[in-house]
Amino acid sequence: MWTSFNIVMWLSSIFMSRIIWNSEAIPLDVYDFHSTQHSFQINEFNNKEISGKFLHITDLHLDPYYLPNSNPKKYCHRYAKKSKKNKSGKFGTLGSDCDSPYALLDSTFSFLKENFHDADFIIYTGDSLRHDRDSKIPFPNDDVISGHKSIVKYVTESLDLSKTKFIPTLGNNDEWEHNQLEGGPNTLFENLTQIWAPLNLNLTSEFANGGYFRQDINSKLSVFSLNSMYFYESNDQIKDCDQINSPGAIQLKWFKNQLKNARQEGRRVLIAQHIPPLDSDGESSFLPQCEEKFVQLLGEFAEIISGHFTGHTNLDTLTFVTESENISGKYNLYYLDKDEGPSKKSTDNIILILNNAPSIIPGKYSTSSKMFGVLSDYIQYYLDINKANEIGRAEWKIEYIASEAYDMKQLSPSEWAKVLDEMKSDQSESWQNYLKFVTVSSE
Ligand SMILES: *[C@@H]1O[C@H](CO)[C@@H](O)[C@H](O)[C@H]1NC(C)=O
Ligand SMILES: *[C@@H]1O[C@H](CO)[C@@H](O)[C@H](O)[C@H]1NC(C)=O
Ligand SMILES: *[C@@H]1O[C@H](CO)[C@@H](O)[C@H](O)[C@H]1NC(C)=O
Ligand SMILES: *[C@@H]1O[C@H](CO)[C@@H](O)[C@H](O)[C@H]1NC(C)=O
Repeated sequence: MWTSFNIVMWLSSIFMSRIIWNSEAIPLDVYDFHSTQHSFQINEFNNKEISGKFLHITDLHLDPYYLPNSNPKKYCHRYAKKSKKNKSGKFGTLGSDCDSPYALLDSTFSFLKENFHDADFIIYTGDSLRHDRDSKIPFPNDDVISGHKSIVKYVTESLDLSKTKFIPTLGNNDEWEHNQLEGGPNTLFENLTQIWAPLNLNLTSEFANGGYFRQDINSKLSVFSLNSMYFYESNDQIKDCDQINSPGAIQLKWFKNQLKNARQEGRRVLIAQHIPPLDSDGESSFLPQCEEKFVQLLGEFAEIISGHFTGHTNLDTLTFVTESENISGKYNLYYLDKDEGPSKKSTDNIILILNNAPSIIPGKYSTSSKMFGVLSDYIQYYLDINKANEIGRAEWKIEYIASEAYDMKQLSPSEWAKVLDEMKSDQSESWQNYLKFVTVSSE
């Protein structure tokens, strides 16, 4: 979560962030899978033209009660007595506890429609609904249902789903109650199976029982939409993953089988979940055994995992999976904390990179047969919400391109290791860029 300090810094800055609805940045990452040499080839696997582009978006937090020109201290739900306190913006209100107005989603989805109609798929890492913060507006189950339906409506009206697969995951603000989700099957999974039907997803019995699923892009690449609510330490309805029948343990068993299966079949995988294993302060957000077992699996199967995408913290951060230098086969997480900086010992043997997005992000991947699904670059877009409110329209801009900001040829673990090495110097361009981009500020 943003602290109010961060928000004040944003407000006092003339530079702004990606998409920021409410106090949250909506990042838009466009990834590119090595498509520079192979762009627009006909995919040999299912005869579909592929661009090698996909997007990562997250944390939309649509608030149907948002009122422009109302009082941000009242969650932008009510007007103030004094008119000068009525200062919520049309596109959102930075530095407040307000969520996203329709105008922000309208602008986001038209931007997607205009600029990314060639994307092969979109990974959406969840949190569609408003925060349940306003004691004066209760959050009945009907609002949960209509909130999810609204997102599906945006998606079906803006995207050609026969070209661009939209792959959602569950966030911690997507349930009947904030942070709480019991084991499946349950009514939420039942209802979402129906609500998401227009997205034409692979919602098998695994989704009905656990809220996770595998979505194949083709025979070379699968996306795993994981349910991080079953690893999340704030979810009181579950037990830790060393309890064999806990929802997390069951999910991990499925995850391992799917990874084995992908390795056998020569497929790469992209992993999507809402909550990252480490929070914005570098502390664990998973239950201890869930984290431990999850990280070991990431390490064991790192060579087929092309990417790992999360949202939740609204920060643009990197976490690395490293292999212990002394105990072979023992894996750890290393969070690149803006307040600490890369330390010497944690920068060796990097084997996998976990990307956390602030809000809406596009990327690229390789479409060559051997390298299919390997990430080659990404572009971070942003919307300056203050400016949009001022001029009455949203202008999306590029914040940075990863290969340029970090001087990389591709986004491989060995290239990241070089970047991290360079970052050890506080004055290095890559470290300065990282600090600048963490909270989505650009010049
Ligand atoms: C703002 O505040 C005034 C009270 O001064 C209120 O009457 C009005 O409805 C509010 N809304 C707008 C858009 O000014
Ligand atoms: C949600 O699921 C419950 C239980 O199956 C069902 O009664 C209800 O009609 C569903 N609602 C929607 C909107 O699908
Ligand atoms: C759906 O998921 C199952 C595994 O649960 C997998 O075997 C199947 O290939 C997937 N199909 C698609 C189209 O993604
Ligand atoms: C690995 O072992 C060496 C030699 O025993 C020791 O100096 C070093 O601190 C160890 N590294 C870690 C990360 O434990």
